[in-house]
Amino acid sequence: MNDKKVVGEKAVEYVKDGMVVGLGTGSTVFHTISKLGKLVEEGLSIKGIPTSNQTEKLAKGVGIPLVTFNEIEQIDLAIDGADEVDDDFNLIKGGGGALLREKIIAKAAKSFIVIADPHKRVNKLGSFPLPVEVVPFGYEMTMKHIQNLGCNPKLRQSNGIPFLTDNGNYIFDCSFPIIEHPRELEKSLNMIPGVVENGLFVGMADKIITLNKEKSIIING
Ligand code: A5P
Repeated sequence: MNDKKVVGEKAVEYVKDGMVVGLGTGSTVFHTISKLGKLVEEGLSIKGIPTSNQTEKLAKGVGIPLVTFNEIEQIDLAIDGADEVDDDFNLIKGGGGALLREKIIAKAAKSFIVIADPHKRVNKLGSFPLPVEVVPFGYEMTMKHIQNLGCNPKLRQSNGIPFLTDNGNYIFDCSFPIIEHPRELEKSLNMIPGVVENGLFVGMADKIITLNKEKSIIING
């Protein structure tokens, strides 16, 4: 079994009957959602709330009933992947462009489980370029303000045109040297007019499921 499948399926053990579950986006949580679909088929009663159009389609395809925010009081558990995870459980997310909805759902969840293959573990965040979602209006100026925080922002492209998020926004992938102070950077980025959200998830993850060198499952938190 590949690493993503191992950690993705392990997270399913935390899903209990009756829960509202935030469904993340990406190739790791794909395995969680697929497994949940099988369990739903066998009688598990849950409702999912997806973090992207891609996940919505996947969840519907495997038969997980979905809800929206106006139908629920709270999310019991959110499960999602990450692009980097540091020793303090801080994350970089947004490699797939779903960071805004992922952050809204992680914040709304009573508990947030992150599933990460071992390559995602780092001492300090920053090797993975930080995704920053911005509105298209004035993005050239927004880019300059982001650059002034000490990075090299690149406008994400898809087939030769700017990549559009599910919210109709652009993404800058921002190469910083090592990120020493993620909380401060998260705030500074979000204070720039035009920035909608950034991929730093600071102090949000409750549990990290990963593997050690020997490929045994490690659960922190
Ligand atoms: C989606 O925008 C991202 O935040 C993903 O959760 C993250 O990129 C992890 O993706 P993989 O599980 O595909 O590595």
